[in-house]
Amino acid sequence: MKKTTKQKNINKSLTMLHVHLCDQRHVPSIAIDALAYFQSEVKKENNFISISLYPEHHLYVLIKDEEDAESWRRMGSRVWSWMQSFHSHEATLHLHGIKKEIGMALNEGIHLSSYKFDKYKKEESSKNKHAIISFSGIDFSLAEKNTLVSKINSVFICRDLVNEPFDALHSVALGKAFEQLGKKHGFKVEVFNKARIEALKMAGLLAVNRGSKYAPTFSVMHYCHPSAKKMKPVVLVGKGVVYDTGGYNIKVGTGMENMKCDMAGAAAVGSTLALASSQKWPINLIGLVPSTDNFINSSAYVAGNIIRYSNGVTAEVQNTDAEGRLILADALIYAAKYKPQLVIDFATLTGAAAAAIGKYGAVGMCNKSAHTQMNHLLKCGESSGDRIAQFPFWDDYAELIKSDIAEIRNIGGPYAGAITAGKFLERFVDYPWIHLDIAGPSFLDADWNYRKKGGTGYGVMLMHDFLREFSSAK
Ligand code: BES
Ligand code: MN
Ligand code: ZN
Repeated sequence: MKKTTKQKNINKSLTMLHVHLCDQRHVPSIAIDALAYFQSEVKKENNFISISLYPEHHLYVLIKDEEDAESWRRMGSRVWSWMQSFHSHEATLHLHGIKKEIGMALNEGIHLSSYKFDKYKKEESSKNKHAIISFSGIDFSLAEKNTLVSKINSVFICRDLVNEPFDALHSVALGKAFEQLGKKHGFKVEVFNKARIEALKMAGLLAVNRGSKYAPTFSVMHYCHPSAKKMKPVVLVGKGVVYDTGGYNIKVGTGMENMKCDMAGAAAVGSTLALASSQKWPINLIGLVPSTDNFINSSAYVAGNIIRYSNGVTAEVQNTDAEGRLILADALIYAAKYKPQLVIDFATLTGAAAAAIGKYGAVGMCNKSAHTQMNHLLKCGESSGDRIAQFPFWDDYAELIKSDIAEIRNIGGPYAGAITAGKFLERFVDYPWIHLDIAGPSFLDADWNYRKKGGTGYGVMLMHDFLREFSSAK
C-alpha cells in the first residue's frame, strides 16, 4: 500500500490506535500513544488483544470478559475489515489474559470473513487471500488448531456448494461433489440413480423431477467412528433442490434469481459429514440428500396431481412451488430404515420462515419425541451463532393441510406457512425428528458480520457444537 508522508511519520513516532473499543469509552480514535494507554488499562485489570498487521501496523482491542463467543466472531469480522483497509491478510494476535474460547471465536470470525467466492473471476482469485492468523499469549493445542481449520474449511465447502451456479451443480453433479468430499475426508457415499430411485418408489422426488433434463439423485453418506458402531445413527436430511423455478406455479418477478440456493440444506449436510469425519467425532452419522431441479417441460408435474408415497400416504399437489416437502418426504421415509435415534432435516423450505424472522436464524420445530434434543440444539444455536427460533407445532396446524381428494395437500393456505410445511413432513416420520427451515439464514443479499453475501454455510457451525460430543443422553 502506498502511504502518505503523514501516515509514515505517525507510524514512526507512535503506535497507532485504529480500533474501536468494545466498552465504548471515549478514547480518541486518532493516533495516541496506544501502548501506554493500554498498559494503564491492563493495570486496571482490563484484558486486551493487540493485533500486529504486517508489516508495521498495530490494532488494540480492549475486551470485556462477559461477552459471548458470537460477539467475538463478529469482532473478528471487524478485525478483518481493518486488516483489509491496510491491504493485509496476515496478522498476529497477541492475546493478553484472554480466555481460549474468546481467542478461538475471534479467530473463527476473522477466517469466516475472509471468504470470497471468486473462482469465476480469473484475476481476483489470484489476489484473494484468506486470512493467515498466528497467535501469541495463548497456547492452542495442535488438536484445537486442527479443529479450527476443519471447521472453517467445512463452512467454506458449504458456501462454495451453495454459491456454485445451477449449470455447474445440477442434481448429478451434486452427487459427484459428495463422492469427492467422501473420498477426501473419509466417509462413504453412495449416489442412487434414477432406476434405483424408481425401484425405491420415491414418488415425490420422481414427480418434481419430471420437468427436468437431469436425472434425480439420492445421495446416502455415512460416517461412523469405530467406537460408535453400536450407536443408533443420527440422520441428517438436506433439501437438494439445485434450482427452483417454481415449476408450473412459476416464480415471478425477483422470486427466482437466488434459487440456486435451494440446495443449502444439502450443502450443510455434506459439509457436516466432511467435518465429522475429518475430526473423527465419536458418532454414527448418516446424511441423506434427495436432489433434483424444479423445472418445466411438457412432462412436468402439475397442480392437481396426486402423489402416492411408498408408505401409503397420498398427497395432492396444489402448488408445484411447494416442491421441497415433496422430495423430503421420500428421504424421511427412507431414514426410518436406520432406526435413527434422531433425524434433523435442513431445508430452504418456505419464504414464510424468512418472512417471519428474517435472516437472523432458522425456524425450528420438532415432534414430541425430540423435545429434549431440541432444547440442546437451541443452546447450540446460541453458542455456534447459527441460531434457531422454535415455532409452535400444535396438532391444530395439521388441519390446514387436509385435502378433499387425498390425505394431505402440499400447501396450507395463507397463515403459518413454515409450520404447515413442517406438518406435511411430520406425516412421514415415526422417530425423534427436528425440522430446520433455513430459507432465511442460508443465503444473503449483502455481507452481514462474518457471513458474506451469497451462501453463508448455515448449519455447519451448529452441527459442530451439537454433534461433536454427541451423546444420546442429552
Ligand atoms: N425454495 C422455496 C423457499 C425459499 C424462498 C427459499 C426464499 C429461499 C428463499 C420453496 O420451494 C418455495 O417455493 N416455497 C413456497 C411454498 C408455497 C408455495 C407454499 C413459498 O415459500 O412461497
Ligand atoms: Mn419452491
Ligand atoms: Zn424450493
